[in-house]
Amino acid sequence: MPEPMSPVSFPSTFLWGAATSAYQIEGAVREDGRTPSIWDTFAHTPGKTAGGDHGDVAVDHYHRYRDDVALMSGLGLGAYRFSISWSRVQPTGRGPAVQRGLDFYRRLVDELLAKDIKPAVTLYHWDLPQELEDAGGWPERDTAYRFAEYAQIVGEALGDRVEQWITLNEPWCSAFLGYGSGVHAPGRTEPVATLRASHHLNLAHGLGAKALRSVMPARNTVALSLNSSTVRPLTQDAADLAAARKIDDLANGIFHGPILHGAYPESLFTATRQLTDWSYVQDGDLATINQPLDALGLNYYTPALVSAAGPDHSGPRADGHGTSEHSPWPAADDVLFHQPPGDRTAMGWSIDPTGLYDLIMRYEREVPGLPLYITENGAAYDDKPDPDGRVHDPERIAYLHGHLAEVRRAIADGADVRGYFLWSLLDNFEWAYGYEKRFGAVYVDYTTLERTPKSSAHWYGKAARTGTLPEVDEVF
Ligand code: FCB
Repeated sequence: MPEPMSPVSFPSTFLWGAATSAYQIEGAVREDGRTPSIWDTFAHTPGKTAGGDHGDVAVDHYHRYRDDVALMSGLGLGAYRFSISWSRVQPTGRGPAVQRGLDFYRRLVDELLAKDIKPAVTLYHWDLPQELEDAGGWPERDTAYRFAEYAQIVGEALGDRVEQWITLNEPWCSAFLGYGSGVHAPGRTEPVATLRASHHLNLAHGLGAKALRSVMPARNTVALSLNSSTVRPLTQDAADLAAARKIDDLANGIFHGPILHGAYPESLFTATRQLTDWSYVQDGDLATINQPLDALGLNYYTPALVSAAGPDHSGPRADGHGTSEHSPWPAADDVLFHQPPGDRTAMGWSIDPTGLYDLIMRYEREVPGLPLYITENGAAYDDKPDPDGRVHDPERIAYLHGHLAEVRRAIADGADVRGYFLWSLLDNFEWAYGYEKRFGAVYVDYTTLERTPKSSAHWYGKAARTGTLPEVDEVF
């Protein structure tokens, strides 16, 4: 007889949340003074997104936020991570705030608090005001100062009722996909701009964290969300280990080096020396970037598998969020990316929950004692309603179960993981893939915008309410 599985239970204080971002769900792009962000411009440029999809309406969360909060409350979620649209709050990316824009977020936060759902605010989830890109974007130093001003405005407006703050979401994607491979806004393909953008995003984080703390109650926490990669070498050969090390620097060390330890990895400087002398790192920057953090957010979907490129191969292409003839990785033509083994999601991303465990334990070692949150994790599948109108998504349930069980294992092994935010609450605009890829626990009919919780939403809701993972085959 098989042994009955022991139930996977979490600490009672564990936070069970869901995550979204502004451009992916809000719509209402021309309302209440909002101006275009780089994602409006990019999505409206022919050929940049699947089917020419854009976020003009998205899932109309701007008008339906009350229903969406009610959905979360009905499921029993304890936290909601959302982002603020910078150009709704500061249409030109500088100067005074537009109160109507801020009022939307005040109403949203009040609604969440009334339903006992903890808000977690991300200040920047990739939607730079277009005017700031016109002035040079993230490769320009001034953008970091503009971000600090914006952070202060939002901190002043919401700091009295939002305790959890995240400065940046996945700066790797902003820099490497926005300025390297060009599959994300603003669609530039300039290797040096990628590295300059990375430094200025780091600086923005540091200045932004300081600005938030200068205006907010001391009880509030400041973090950032990294999509730090679990980079695995194809073999233990020295050349493959060196390839993995190089990608680890470019994916992870370039951000966590200065942010957590106050220094860029020397090996990153060496690897990129032929492209840049890094003279945009000015005196004092590293101290500014290395602000004390209250927590670290980790976003995880799939690991990376790399090797040294043989003489007949050139150039890595894999970047997860789209394909381009331009590599996102500067100075890494000698590295090859491989499809990791195993099943894949509809994104083509291989499913490997142990990658999440490895990632958590890595940061537990890098920054012992720093609380960790999984600020994104989830999967896209080709979900369709049954004739009875229900949406069954057993693959997503299996994905969530597998990953949450690894989070639990990491906690048992001593990691201080305080919460988990499922990506995503709702099906939404998945960047270059438009509405083709459905990541939601809640299904959205894009004709009527009607919401239907999938079976995974019920499964996850039960986990949130009980603190214990239901079996994968429990029927909802
Ligand atoms: C992350 C992004 C999020 C979504 C998921 C699938 O990289 O932060 O907006 O696109 O991937």
